[in-house]
Amino acid sequence: MCLLGLILLCVLLTGTSEVDVTHVFFGSGEDVRLPCNNALSNCTSTVWIYDRDSVELITLGIKRKYTEIHERLSLGSDCSLNIKNITKDDSRSYTCRQYLNGVQEGNDARVYLHVLHVSSSSSQSEIRSGRSLTLFCQLYYDPVSCDTLIREGLHLIWVDETGMNLTDSRFQISFSSGQCLSVSLSTTLLNEDHNREWRCELKQRDQLKTSVLYTVKYSGTKLDPAKTASWLIRVILIIVEVAVFTAPSVLLLQIICERRAGRKNSHQSNQIEMSTVFQ
Ligand SMILES: *[C@@H]1O[C@H](CO)[C@@H](O)[C@H](O)[C@H]1NC(C)=O
Ligand SMILES: *[C@@H]1O[C@H](CO)[C@@H](O)[C@H](O)[C@H]1NC(C)=O
Ligand SMILES: *[C@@H]1O[C@H](CO)[C@@H](O)[C@H](O)[C@H]1NC(C)=O
Repeated sequence: MCLLGLILLCVLLTGTSEVDVTHVFFGSGEDVRLPCNNALSNCTSTVWIYDRDSVELITLGIKRKYTEIHERLSLGSDCSLNIKNITKDDSRSYTCRQYLNGVQEGNDARVYLHVLHVSSSSSQSEIRSGRSLTLFCQLYYDPVSCDTLIREGLHLIWVDETGMNLTDSRFQISFSSGQCLSVSLSTTLLNEDHNREWRCELKQRDQLKTSVLYTVKYSGTKLDPAKTASWLIRVILIIVEVAVFTAPSVLLLQIICERRAGRKNSHQSNQIEMSTVFQ
């Protein structure tokens, strides 16, 4: 029993030491680089595996085309995996593995990508002075357990433009009990909040790991270039329409005027002719 336990412990220990594990933290929307810590001299031996469904994203240095995220992927010159514009759904583990002549070389290098994401309770058109606004900030950390991250000293805070804690009584900061590592910010918007920037920071003890910025934008306070352009086009269309519709009547008026003028002239010439006849 004791021996079995010892063997199990050995397996567990060697099991964990065989994988080189890295945790990286980024905000959603960022372009990220996942390091390949077991890369060889070139990347023709490199395989990147998406651990959620054990799909190969990169096979022997070549990107697979059938995967859902292949358009956002590229392989760095150091065999790192670059992912563009990450979303919370990209929060998974990725494994870098090397093969030489069909045989695995060295240990796996696994990268856990954790994504910080901020969402708002209101749609953009509802964001204006006097309205209440709640911002949810959450760390997506699949498949690591939240307890592990908290034990590592990870926590979230909301700060203002100057990096100070939002402690004013107009802000209600609450740490959701249901979801681990999430914090919401609620407030009633004031006139001066337009263009104000609030930032959700992920910290490990005192060290900043990543952050996501939220900028308050009131609707209808700024001329949208696209809207201005469409407005201009509409004005031009109206002018053209008016021109098209009035052109025939202008032409008609002109014809009538010319005819009248013509009749007057012929009257005059008639009279002149008559008078010459009578004389
Ligand atoms: C990559 O490295 C291997 C040996 O590690 C070598 O055989 C192969 O020719 C190299 N390929 C390129 C494209 O440099
Ligand atoms: C990034 O992805 C989001 C959706 O997740 C999309 O709305 C946005 O346009 C993308 N940005 C770029 C620069 O591709
Ligand atoms: C910031 O606020 C959080 C609670 O929101 C608190 O736990 C923390 O100690 C504050 N930090 C500073 C530097 O004031």
